[in-house]
Amino acid sequence: MLKGIGKVLFTEEAIQNRVKELAAEITEDYQGKEIIVVGILTGAFIFMADLIREIKLPLTVDFIDVASYGSSTYSSGVVRIVKDLEKSIENAHVLVVEDIVDTGLTLNYISQNLLSRHPASLKICAFLDKPSRRQAPIKVDYLGYKIPDEFAVGYGLDFAEKYRSLPYIAVLAPEEYIKR
Ligand code: PRP
Repeated sequence: MLKGIGKVLFTEEAIQNRVKELAAEITEDYQGKEIIVVGILTGAFIFMADLIREIKLPLTVDFIDVASYGSSTYSSGVVRIVKDLEKSIENAHVLVVEDIVDTGLTLNYISQNLLSRHPASLKICAFLDKPSRRQAPIKVDYLGYKIPDEFAVGYGLDFAEKYRSLPYIAVLAPEEYIKR
């Protein structure tokens, strides 16, 4: 086990199976349509890379990055775009991909912002959801797993920018955040 890592929540095999199931559902739902898959940087890039390779539809990708004002630990709910989409999404079917929904403030802001650009449709696909932490209403159309309020890392999720590259999702060992 890697230093700093605690209990494994989802193995690489479980993740890959769930990704295939989500991609199959998406492929089915959008039959005959072309989609723009929008990844929210940085955490979503690994999930998105796996997901799009399993979606059997014509698609393009784009990325958006946001930051919240104020403390980095407690989200203020006020978000600003630090990297916008490269292309217009007007009249397009947009699927937003996120690694985790926590308070929901990030996706709430991004959904409202993207809807104001008049896409033909907008749906959300998130790999993890911590519903107990929700502060803003979010409808996740395609969800990998619900998790309790634990500090999860791996498969794109970081702690101080580390652990994103783990192919599995685990809980951060308590000594990792105590020593900081
Ligand atoms: C994480 C995650 C989501 C957001 C979810 O991103 O990737 O974007 O927090 O939290 P919320 O539901 O409370 O808004 P983070 O800001 O840590 O950036 P990162 O993707 O670069 O890790």
